[in-house]
Amino acid sequence: MDEKIKEVLQKVLETIKPRNEEYERVWRVIEKLSSSLEKEAEKIGLEIKVEVEGSIAKDTWLAGARDVDIFLLFPKETPENLLRKYGLTIARRAVERVGGEYYETYAYHPYIRGLIEGYEIDIVPAYKMEKGEPLTPVDRTPFHTRYVLEHLSPEMKDEVRLLKQFMKGVGVYGAEIKVGGFSGYLCELLIIHYRNFIETLRHASRWIPWRTIIDIEGYYKGVPNSKLRRMLGFGSPLIVVDPIDKKRNVAAAVTLQKFSEFKAASRLFLDKPSTEFFFPKPTSPLKPRELREIISKRGSCLVAILLPCPKLPPDILWGEIYRSLRGLRKLLEDEGFKVNLSKVFSDERNFIFYFFELENCSLPPVVKHEGPPVGEEDRERKFLTKYLVEHRELVFSGPFIEGGKWIVYRKRRLLNVKEVLREKVNTARHGAHLRKIFSEGKFEIYVGEEISTVLTKYENSDLGTYISIWLKGTYPWLRVLADEG
Ligand code: UTP
Ligand code: MN
Repeated sequence: MDEKIKEVLQKVLETIKPRNEEYERVWRVIEKLSSSLEKEAEKIGLEIKVEVEGSIAKDTWLAGARDVDIFLLFPKETPENLLRKYGLTIARRAVERVGGEYYETYAYHPYIRGLIEGYEIDIVPAYKMEKGEPLTPVDRTPFHTRYVLEHLSPEMKDEVRLLKQFMKGVGVYGAEIKVGGFSGYLCELLIIHYRNFIETLRHASRWIPWRTIIDIEGYYKGVPNSKLRRMLGFGSPLIVVDPIDKKRNVAAAVTLQKFSEFKAASRLFLDKPSTEFFFPKPTSPLKPRELREIISKRGSCLVAILLPCPKLPPDILWGEIYRSLRGLRKLLEDEGFKVNLSKVFSDERNFIFYFFELENCSLPPVVKHEGPPVGEEDRERKFLTKYLVEHRELVFSGPFIEGGKWIVYRKRRLLNVKEVLREKVNTARHGAHLRKIFSEGKFEIYVGEEISTVLTKYENSDLGTYISIWLKGTYPWLRVLADEG
């Protein structure tokens, strides 16, 4: 291997490989909680197994990690309502017993997240299943743990750590909706398949979207690509067949965006290895004065919509946030605005900030309006009387015929982006919770320099950093090219 690459990876590992003290600390807490969970489980009188899962169990966690996954595995005959009830009771009592705090949250079943000595410990109920039985998403996890433990050597665990940190550094780590990237389990499978970090990057830099299929166990040997896609879904540009459940694509969450960012970063790292990819220098937040300068230089129209953030689980929240982002962009385009940037930021607690760059803040008073095809009698008559009689005052010229259709050059009612949004935000596509907020009028619109007030109001969040990246930045990892000149 290239000396420079070796040196970089060595340096990164020193930071991300947990030290002995850290292992001791986390396992002390786990053992305390596990034995307390076992005692509480015994009281219930069912054969419930307490099992550590996730990256702690697989020894692929990164130094400084604070999240721990513990599963309560119930006999598969347990009725679901009892699994849910006992799962919560056992977890609550056990956490209380070791002096921690907790709250209830939700994945496939409701579960408890315990806060103990600085760790966030998920205590998740699931069924203890046999190999080959149909699995729910949670029931798969113990199988993942076993598979990875059987297939990763100690050296490969460090390769997984490098891959996870690389993905974090370039911003593609995490299968949650907000990110749409690569899960921890997917990183592990990539290392199992390609043997090490560098080989993974070498292959990833040559991946072709919608063509790349990784089938470690060879379940689909000889099956053509198109057929496999039909079976495992067209949603994601990458297919990684789950070795423990061949009907599932482990990379289902990976978007074309994150696929491409990872591919590009992989290629660049191999050319210009640097710790920058793993630990990017933070971008400094945009100052209100800079915003003013950028606005005058770009000469475009910047628009922000600010709304309060509903309290929802992150995947639901980000599902709605992105849905509205697409809806708002489409609304602006349908109204006639030329949209450049469309971005969104949320601190997931207080506010959601939509951000658009338009070529202009207002539209010309004249708009070409398309009517029905010539000869479609009812619609044709309606259109013609509307513009020749009822609303003559709205017409500049026409009706004319163009391409076999009636058209008219008419007056636009709403000219300014603020007016358009104030009146029509509701008509954009939204999820249920955001739709309610919009329809209750609980939003504010800021145009141009007005946006600096929002910047000041939320200067303690990452908003300023995001706006800075949107308006004057690039991917931090791309800077290794710029720095070389
Ligand atoms: P985590 O998200 O905590 O992942 O999910 P991890 O493997 O522990 O990696 P870290 O914490 O980011 O280092 C715990 C387990 O849940 C299953 C996997 O089995 C994972 O190991 N899981 C989670 C999935 O299969 N897919 C997902 O998208 C998320
Ligand atoms: Mn984890």
